[in-house]
This record gives sequence, C-alpha cells and structure tokens, in this order.
Amino acid sequence: MTENADGVAAASALFQERLDKVATDMEDLLDRVLAPGPVDGERARPVRLLDAMRYASLAGGKRFRPFLVVETAGLFASPRGQALMVASAIEFVHCYSLVHDDLPAMDNDDLRRGRPTTHKAFDEATAILAGDGLLTLAFDVLSRSETHPDPQVRVELVTALARASGLGGMVGGQILDLAAEGRFADGVPERLGQEEIETLEAMKTGALLRFACMSGAILGQADLRARLALDRYGAAIGKAFQVADDLLDAEGDPAMVGKATNKDAAAQKATLVKILGVDGARQTLAALVADAEAAVAPFGAKADVLRAAARFVAERRH
Ligand code: IPE
Ligand code: IPE
Ligand code: MG
Ligand code: MG
Ligand code: MG
Repeated sequence: MTENADGVAAASALFQERLDKVATDMEDLLDRVLAPGPVDGERARPVRLLDAMRYASLAGGKRFRPFLVVETAGLFASPRGQALMVASAIEFVHCYSLVHDDLPAMDNDDLRRGRPTTHKAFDEATAILAGDGLLTLAFDVLSRSETHPDPQVRVELVTALARASGLGGMVGGQILDLAAEGRFADGVPERLGQEEIETLEAMKTGALLRFACMSGAILGQADLRARLALDRYGAAIGKAFQVADDLLDAEGDPAMVGKATNKDAAAQKATLVKILGVDGARQTLAALVADAEAAVAPFGAKADVLRAAARFVAERRH
C-alpha cells in the first residue's frame, strides 16, 4: 500500500475530479455517436427510436464503468480518445441493460436516474427496441478504427464485451436473478446459498465492470502480470458494486439513489443482504474492497485513484 491518511484524502478528491471529467467527455461522445444523421451503411435513423436511445443513455448515470476504462487504459499510456470509445461501448450496453431490467416483465420499475424509466417515458415496444439499438451500437463503436488502429485489438475487445454481456455474463445473470425470485417455478423463490448468489451477482453486474477494467489492459496491450492484476481488481470491484447496490436498495434514500428502494426484499430477490443481513453484507463488501485495493499493488502510486474508486464503491450513496 502506498497511501497514508493525507494520501487517501487526496486520492479521493482526485477520483471525484476524474470521474466528473469522464462523465463530461462521455456525454459529448455519446451525443456525437447518437447524432440524427445516418452513418455509412445505415439507411435512416428513425426519430422515435433515436429519441428513446438518447433518453436512455444521455444526461444521467455516474459513468463509473467509463471511468474504469479510462483509468486502467491510462496505466499503459493508451490515448484517451481510444479509451473513451471503449467506454462508450460499455456504457451503451449498461444503459440497454437498465432499460430492459426496468421493463414490466423484468423488475417493473418506474424511476431510473431520477426520471421516468424509458418504457414510461415512451412505451414498452419502443423501450425494447431502444435497448436492442443500444446493444448493437456498442459493437458498431468497438469495430471502428478510432477505437484502436490494430484490428486484432478490436476483435479482442469485441469478443470480451460479447462474453461479458451475453449468455455467460450479464444476460445470464439476469435470468438467474429472475429464476431466484421463483418466476419460472410457480412463484416459489429459490433458496440460493452464498456461493450461488455471488455467482449470480458476478454475472449480472460484475462481468461488465470486470470487462471495463480489463479493457484498459487490452487497449494498452499489457503483459500477463498486469492483466492478471486488473482482472483480480475488476472481479472484486464488480462483485462489490452489486453488494453496494443491494445495500442501497435496503437502506438507501430513494431521492439520492434516483430509483425506488426496498424492492428487492418484496420481490424475494436473491441478494447477499437477504441471506447475510445488512451487517454481513457490509463485511463482505469491505473484504471485496480490500481485495481490489491489494490487487493493484503492482502499479504502485499510479493506481491510487483506482484504490480510491474501490473505496467509493463501498461508500457511495447513489
Ligand atoms: C445500476 O448501475 C445497476 C447495476 C448494475 C447495479 P449504476 O449504479 O452504475 O447505475 P448508473 O449508471 O449510475 O445510473
Ligand atoms: C441490475 O441489477 C443488473 C443489471 C444488469 C441491470 P438490479 O436490478 O438490482 O439493478 P437496479 O437496482 O434496478 O439498478
Ligand atoms: Mg434486476
Ligand atoms: Mg432492477
Ligand atoms: Mg438493485
């Protein structure tokens, strides 16, 4: 560990500054990618669909995944413009996952990022299609030469994002989440153990965050040692992020978190809070944050902001 108490405070301030800067840059890039004019190979961009995609992805969100991409890519001196391209692809997948997660057939939520959910602001069919459009756009962005001049690096990014997002990643985790509520078994919730819940959470939420951390190493064509360190960091941050989300559902302030709270227990969701209680979940969260901080030790002081990011995950109120 490289930080004393003053160092910790300075790293936290720097973290907030860098997160804010990434959020501003992300807004500009997403706005540019979601411009009204069709690009090469497209016929036209239907206004209603574009409006819904913009509604779901612009003006909101912490942009924590984009921050992780930019910060990990920075360890290898990758150009910021490349990192932002990858970050926008991940944010498109993340925003699509939220639009679909909120649908009546899934978590049935009316509020997201302090505003009506996309299906409330538009309608269900438009929200489903907006999600589809955001998901496909993510891979369009990754395939562009602006993302990285070497096509092999782009293919590596495409494969890794697909695997983090799909059947064996986020989407797979989402069906485990719904199955655990008893959706596919006459409403009888499953009794999952800690390990099964950790797998579910590592898939539905952890996988995309883990990829965000690894993508910096892929862009920077980092060596195996650096990749392993970031993979361990990303795995810990990814799990921690969902435990924190579950704690916010249990005890957060809805006005702060920008979405309804106290829904998981009512829906009989399988969460660590459900089986370990708030205190037990907090302990697990602290252990994950400590592991994330330890994982980036090989990068020394260059990783102070990543360590601050790990602490933010546990302390966040939104
Ligand atoms: C919320 O993610 C959903 C989860 C995967 C836990 P975030 O807390 O990152 O949501 P935004 O992007 O900041 O709104
Ligand atoms: C989110 O889990 C997982 C996703 C892949 C979107 P939640 O269902 O707990 O996320 P929130 O609480 O609605 O943001
Ligand atoms: Mg959900
Ligand atoms: Mg939800
Ligand atoms: Mg939640």
